[in-house]
Amino acid sequence: MAIYLDTSNIEEIKKYTKMGIISGVTTNPTILLKEGVKGGMGGLKEAMQKVLQLVAPLPVSLEVTTNDPQGMITQAKELATWGKNVVVKITVHGPKGELDNMAVIHELETKHNIRVNVTAMMSAQQCFVAALAGASYVSILSGRVNNMGYNSVEEIKKLRHLLDRFQLKAKIIAASTREVLNVVEWLSAGADIVTVTPNFIEGMIVHPYTKETVQMFLNDAAKAGH
Ligand code: E4P
Repeated sequence: MAIYLDTSNIEEIKKYTKMGIISGVTTNPTILLKEGVKGGMGGLKEAMQKVLQLVAPLPVSLEVTTNDPQGMITQAKELATWGKNVVVKITVHGPKGELDNMAVIHELETKHNIRVNVTAMMSAQQCFVAALAGASYVSILSGRVNNMGYNSVEEIKKLRHLLDRFQLKAKIIAASTREVLNVVEWLSAGADIVTVTPNFIEGMIVHPYTKETVQMFLNDAAKAGH
């Protein structure tokens, strides 16, 4: 478990699953909108079922689309029926700082046996509280943290220390990747997983000097008549 793909694009998921590089998929409403997934829960179900089956048993995070507490529970229960590998994403609080989400997270994990990925978090302290509530995954949107002038690496290190010290099960997902170097720096800081859009994986693999070196090998092989 190290790299998740932050997309709902079926071709990209197929491509990287085939390489054996990814250990899960994350989505959010913005990603789905970009991919043209529309048509309410029906449209979402149709689009996501392909992804869920393609990567099973690897986990796929799907986000609820309401902030009403009962609505979140109802949606989460519905999403969880779509596949054993569904992880339900719940934001740490509502758009106005509503705190009901914490009880929802706790109820889903403890009463309904649903794995929850708590998202939209910007600090170690938010993630720590979500982990105390019972979350299986805590997503720190580390690129956004950096954009606000805070150091995401330090937040991840603090969070790693807290989760280990209090023996909390939550896995740290570092998200909102902005640069190729984020992957290794966040994993080195203690994240369990970094979720990336497909272009970053290509960026990790391809190197100009490697291209030149490979070309040299091919040229010399040709010269030698191999
Ligand atoms: C993943 O779980 C997050 O929803 C995603 O990485 C957010 O990315 P963004 O900050 O680029 O929108």
